[in-house]
Amino acid sequence: MNRFIKCLIKKESSFKPVWFMRQAGRYLPEFNKIRSQNKNFIKLCLNSELSSEITLQPIKRFDLDAAIIFSDILIIPHALGQEVNFVKGEGPILEKLNVKNVLNIKDQEFLKKLRPVYDAIAITRKKLRKDKALISFVGAPWTLLAYMLNLKTNENKLNLESFKKSQNNIEELINKLIHVINLHIRSQKEAGADAVQIFDSWAGLLKNDNLKKFCYMPNSKIVNYSRHINLPSICFPKGIGINYKNFIDIVLPDGISIDYDLDPIWAKNNLKNVCIQGGMSPKILLRNEDDVMKEVEKYLDIFKNNAYIFNLGHGILPNTDPDMIKKVVEKVINYK
Ligand code: CP3
Repeated sequence: MNRFIKCLIKKESSFKPVWFMRQAGRYLPEFNKIRSQNKNFIKLCLNSELSSEITLQPIKRFDLDAAIIFSDILIIPHALGQEVNFVKGEGPILEKLNVKNVLNIKDQEFLKKLRPVYDAIAITRKKLRKDKALISFVGAPWTLLAYMLNLKTNENKLNLESFKKSQNNIEELINKLIHVINLHIRSQKEAGADAVQIFDSWAGLLKNDNLKKFCYMPNSKIVNYSRHINLPSICFPKGIGINYKNFIDIVLPDGISIDYDLDPIWAKNNLKNVCIQGGMSPKILLRNEDDVMKEVEKYLDIFKNNAYIFNLGHGILPNTDPDMIKKVVEKVINYK
């Protein structure tokens, strides 16, 4: 059993595994080189050989405990037949959703489109050392819908107009998404993934009953399904503040990734029977080495006696220095 799984499942606290969200990405020159030769981002995600190569880039540089397969959460809308484009500087743009088409898509058709992701996982698992974990991932239904139905404004607030207009479809779509997300998780496990991370990056847009209906309920169904197929799960319901406690009490994931707005001491005192991951702001990594090391040590000290996986409160920023990542990894590994 590798260190990552020992910590996540056995709640081992004597060492702290380390990996980073967006550890393969634009802060690495070797990623940018491949990216500049592959202008279509979705096509790049579906190139199994290149996806595997990109997945392994950070592993070659740093002594990380886990690789995360290079893909994107928006590969699911793509596989459901909704066109997804990544426009430089603007983020993802999705064509207007045809609800009927999405609800009618057949499992086989959906899985066929994602075959290259499973091939990439199989290739990567073969190349990756046995003592390192390979993490698969999905976007949670609400976060996928936020993109599919354009539910957030440019200021990252809930777009009430789009939300009201889509009300009739939202529950049906959530159920369809739970179904296809579970298919995607099962296939990633069958290809060789050791765990799944469930990204609910826009959970923070939801309040009260909507948080229960559109965040806790779908995450709970996905975590239950993952447990049923023996795949450990980590949830990332970003931006829900003290509702993190309700989230883990209801959803019961193996691991919980905390964001940079959550007080880590509060997290330690309130999030029980779960492996905690992450928290440190990715912005810290843009500061000088002393500041960075102090902050890394702060998180390690707080979670010293807990099952804790070192990571950030969100993805590595593109202007991060790869050497700083190297130093952080060494610091975490040598921490006693
Ligand atoms: O290294 C890894 O973490 C694995 C690969 C990975 C990517 N996206 C590659 C990527 C993972 C796990 C994701 C998850 C993802 N994608 C999330 C959840 C996590 C989060 O950031 O909140 C979300 C919301 C997306 C959707 C998405 N993909 C956006 C909004 C963008 C554009 C802006 C941005 O954040 O970069 C992407 C593009 C994307 N996905 C890039 C990478 C490396 C950048 C591609 C490029 O422009 O070259």
